[in-house]
Amino acid sequence: MTGNKATRAWNERDLRHSWHPFTQMREYAAIPPVQIVSGQGAWVTDSEGRRYLDGNASIWTNVHGHNDPDLNAALRDQLDRVAHSTLLGLSHPVGADLAARLAEISPGRLNRSFFSDNGSNAVEIALKLSFQYWELTGHPEKRGVISMANGYHGDTFGTMAVGDNGVFHGRFRPWFFPVSHFPAPVCAELNGRVAEADARESLKGLEKLLQKEAERTACLIMEPSMQGAAGMRLQPPGFLREVAALCRQHGVHLILDEVFVAFGRLGSLLVCAEEGIEPDFLCLAKGLTAGYLPLAATVVRDDIYEAFLGPFESFRAFFHGHTFTGNPLAAAVSLASIQKLETMIASGDLARGVSVFGRLLEERLDGHPQVAEIRQRGMAAAVELTPERGAAESFPTGERFGLRVCLRAREHGLILRPLGDTLLLVPPLCVNEDEITFLIEKTTLSIEETIRARQPAAAFT
Ligand SMILES: Cc1ncc(COP(=O)(O)O)c(C=O)c1O
Repeated sequence: MTGNKATRAWNERDLRHSWHPFTQMREYAAIPPVQIVSGQGAWVTDSEGRRYLDGNASIWTNVHGHNDPDLNAALRDQLDRVAHSTLLGLSHPVGADLAARLAEISPGRLNRSFFSDNGSNAVEIALKLSFQYWELTGHPEKRGVISMANGYHGDTFGTMAVGDNGVFHGRFRPWFFPVSHFPAPVCAELNGRVAEADARESLKGLEKLLQKEAERTACLIMEPSMQGAAGMRLQPPGFLREVAALCRQHGVHLILDEVFVAFGRLGSLLVCAEEGIEPDFLCLAKGLTAGYLPLAATVVRDDIYEAFLGPFESFRAFFHGHTFTGNPLAAAVSLASIQKLETMIASGDLARGVSVFGRLLEERLDGHPQVAEIRQRGMAAAVELTPERGAAESFPTGERFGLRVCLRAREHGLILRPLGDTLLLVPPLCVNEDEITFLIEKTTLSIEETIRARQPAAAFT
């Protein structure tokens, strides 16, 4: 094993004792590990002193960069007061302030936040609240769930059941509750231009499903505007409005999972507010704390909340909670981040960054012989790789072409994560023009070097 003494020791412990998420550990063991020891802005540094641009924003969370002075100050200030105190029967000022702040930025009657600590929990809570609401209001038959094809909502049992990812979750299907899926629309967008879009089949499918099942259905769940883990799959403008109208018309709750798309990722604070949609439940996590600490919120409409009120012995209360629900350190960072992000959006800085990102993707990678399609909206993009543009053939799965490109990128000082042979480009929102140029140029270079070094029959491990 290479590296300095400390690196070698960490690597050894890591390889002996850690089990990494979403990772084939045999493959991981064959790749030199990287120990990230510090971060500054859009960059992270490893234990050997090598710097990398954080091209996946520490799994799609980072907003203002690492080690941000304003967020650090908010965190330290709260740390000097109290690190954790429960929300079970007690409150704390930053929790109350954050709940009020989320009510302020959320549309319409979404005024009540139920905090938790990750995106999967935010979704589980929305589902359970919807089920309990219908039971409390005399409709126990409304128990079904509708979700959009290709959705990803987390890895707990409820979120796997409502998701639609055979590769990730297929083997757990025997333990899922039944869910009806409607087709997702087809839409490719790059640099602000919708290249191709068809939502008709999707909406027709949904309408048919609702006509048949609405009376027995509690809720519909979807990721609005962009399905991240499906490979940045997009919905055409106006689609969300139509889905929301159909849900309302058929008396089915609309749960919007904005765990990935909110807090600036698509250019606005909240997608639903931007599009003038008032869902029944709004799920937030990831960018909620700008990538600093685990925190999630399920924001709920007033009238739904009111159905849970009554004397204790009516047992209408929502019996659900997590130990670190609404952690004060995380809430303090979140408040500071939202304020800073509002300025970033109002000043036009974020929109300028997004437009540079879209333009460079188009200039450098659109039409590239190894790129089948690019989908981009806001500061998120998927670059689908192909052995040859226009050919039907794809890379053999065992070749791990996408992973190989990401390992090349690492050598060039860029951290990326592949989804099969699709590269997902999700930098911290604070990236400047030079950093976006670096991201796109090193991505292009890594694709080109990997294709030149390709030995098609070679399996990865
Ligand atoms: C849209 C969406 N929902 C839910 C989740 C799950 O969030 P977590 O990993 O915090 O449980 C994710 C994670 O990527 C996500 O993208």
